Amino acid sequence: MSNVLEVTNLNTTFWTPEGDVKAVNNVSFAIARGETLGIVGESGSGKSQIFMSIMGLLASNGKATGSVKVAGTEILGVPTAELNKIRGARMSMIFQDPMTSLNPYLTVRRQMTEVLMTHKGLSEKEAAETSVRLLDQVQIPEARRRLNMYPHEFSGGMRQRVMIAMALLCGPELLIADEPTTALDVTVQAQILDLLSQLRRDNGMAIALITHDLGVIAGLADRVMVMYAGAIAEEGSVRDIFKRPQHPYTEGLLRSMPRLDETGITRLQTIGGQPPNLQNLPSGCTFRERCPYAVERCMSERPHLRDIGGGRAKSCHRDNLMGDAA
Ligand SMILES: Nc1ncnc2c1ncn2[C@@H]1O[C@H](COP(=O)(O)OP(=O)(O)O)[C@@H](O)[C@H]1O
Ligand SMILES: [Mg+2]
Repeated sequence: MSNVLEVTNLNTTFWTPEGDVKAVNNVSFAIARGETLGIVGESGSGKSQIFMSIMGLLASNGKATGSVKVAGTEILGVPTAELNKIRGARMSMIFQDPMTSLNPYLTVRRQMTEVLMTHKGLSEKEAAETSVRLLDQVQIPEARRRLNMYPHEFSGGMRQRVMIAMALLCGPELLIADEPTTALDVTVQAQILDLLSQLRRDNGMAIALITHDLGVIAGLADRVMVMYAGAIAEEGSVRDIFKRPQHPYTEGLLRSMPRLDETGITRLQTIGGQPPNLQNLPSGCTFRERCPYAVERCMSERPHLRDIGGGRAKSCHRDNLMGDAA
């Protein structure tokens, strides 16, 4: 069994008074052991809700169907007690805002040791030693002293590190990082990405890195999954996706990345239009209204994710993009 996570036909719907919101539409993918998968797409494209579904953390008006296997075991829809054996132990999740995972009223020591005593049966002393080691591993200076501090006594970047250390307590095989650096300034962002990359090397852990920023993916991910309107638009290796995007949406995302040209000016070419309303998806391709290549067929027929060779897949009727030499 070489996949730590296997997701098949995941559909996530939220009930609202205005109608059902189809947040995740027939999504299937796998993450191999030790692999870093980047999940990228505009805000609202379903990135977070895929992983909230996987973690069993959907809001009460949401429901997920399909199959989610962690190291071969089905976990979608299993009782919370079962899920709790997997959450934390085999996979854990970190967020943009560390305070979603940290309790402001308890010292870091209390929060970390409690998990280790409950789940690993360690004594208070052993748990404190392990916690110090983890704070060291996430490069928090003076870990022993800082263990006794409250979350608000840490700077933003340091608090992010504490949250990462908390996520590592039970040695997960998969770390889900949801926009972990979005709220941080550029220097701290780079430091946290470095840390994730190091943790992956040292712990052999797989990472699902969720971001709206392709730049973040470039340095860290092995493979990329591009999300659009709750579905996978395209997937492939980072290198291939950057070199030769095969879905018009990916092409647009790459064009909208800021870059320096000869005149030193950063130019941004944004994708025109808006993503579709998830309560009322259009017929045919969900990207057609914004797509420079759309043809008749795109209006009527929804493209399914199809294998296009070389470990790549896309949801687009076109065989090649305009810019392609082939
Ligand atoms: N509890 C909820 N009720 C209704 N809609 C929701 C709820 N939670 C998320 N959504 C919708 O699901 C869609 C996908 O959200 P999300 O996965 O968070 O996007 P992102 O790609 O930015 O992470 C969005 O349109 C969002 O508004
Ligand atoms: Mg999100």
